[in-house]
Amino acid sequence: MVYCLYMPPDGEDPHSVPAARREKEGTMETLERKKVMLSGIKPSGDLTLGSYLGAIKNWAARAEQFDCYYFMADAHAITVRQKPADLRRRTLEQLAQYIACGLDPEQNTLLIQSHVPAHAELGWVLNCYTMFGELSRMTQFKDKSRKNADNINGGLFTYPCLMAADILLYQPDYVPVGEDQKQHVELARNIVQRFNGIYGQVFRMPEPYIPKVGARVMDLLNPSSKMSKSDEAGAGVVYLMDRPEDIARKFKRAVTDSDTERCVRYDPETKPGVANLMSIYAAATDRSFAQIEAEFEGQGYGVFKPAVADAVIELLRPIREEATRILADKAYLQSVYRAGAEKAAAIANRTLRKVYKKVGFVER
Ligand code: TYM
Repeated sequence: MVYCLYMPPDGEDPHSVPAARREKEGTMETLERKKVMLSGIKPSGDLTLGSYLGAIKNWAARAEQFDCYYFMADAHAITVRQKPADLRRRTLEQLAQYIACGLDPEQNTLLIQSHVPAHAELGWVLNCYTMFGELSRMTQFKDKSRKNADNINGGLFTYPCLMAADILLYQPDYVPVGEDQKQHVELARNIVQRFNGIYGQVFRMPEPYIPKVGARVMDLLNPSSKMSKSDEAGAGVVYLMDRPEDIARKFKRAVTDSDTERCVRYDPETKPGVANLMSIYAAATDRSFAQIEAEFEGQGYGVFKPAVADAVIELLRPIREEATRILADKAYLQSVYRAGAEKAAAIANRTLRKVYKKVGFVER
């Protein structure tokens, strides 16, 4: 495709400048713009099977097709009080786990959010283009305020503005997330509409990209609530780094259903525990619900639960082994996050400069 590399003076929209003038004053270049994909995870707890199936699994193996940015959202993590040493450790572990899950740092840009100041800088600007009412409606804010009643801080409330900044800085086409983050991506889209409506085409409109299976992995002991890495007890949570015997034990205790039918059938309304196990098995083995029902026809949960455990053990085994190996090489991890931040900052600062100019800041 032919792109005109031309920044019109004084914030004019490049698309509204006549082609003849663009050609005269700018440079026309043939570029194949790869579509951009971006996402992040808070290092607020150890990564879980939910983080993997809902998000990371959909990131890996996209590098050929997309220009990909994935980050450790440490700035988001401190909206809830963290022990500093734990946050630091988990941020590096998360990077090792990203790589172990198949995100090759040569092909993907992997960064630590706080290493690219443009996130915080654009976050502030977007605070001023997001309405109190919009932020008040966010279910995550309501949830977290309930769980952290003694620390309902401003960051928790304006969290979606920082998340919108994370996204919009890189002008992505797609944002692969689990179901629970959809509302935040929708808010980022509203901000794009508002900002572009005032200043012209500044931000690309991002699309949430939500997997069909695994978008909401539920807690094994409480299938009405999301499997969450910040869950203190963790007995119904499968962590990416769990040992096989821990995984087997957790699935053995997983709640199924008290119905008399006791068969493997997908019905999230009346059999939420079994539906959750089926979703996990489907995502881990790339099978459909119909195939799973056929596979376990006439067999009870006593056969089904160990089969799900085995599938998850085999899914996570290579990730755990590889992550352990990578984590031991601190110099390598440092080289990855430094290179990632440098590359990311170059892109992010381009968007930030444009935004600063549009809103009327004097150029540095
Ligand atoms: P976080 O850290 O809560 O979760 C990271 C990703 O994992 C998905 N996920 C799940 N998917 C299915 N089942 C589950 N049980 C489950 N638990 C977590 C989440 O949907 C998410 O995709 N605000 C974000 C982090 C973030 C971000 C961003 C994401 C910050 N800036 C910009 C995308 C783009 C968060 O707290 O995710």
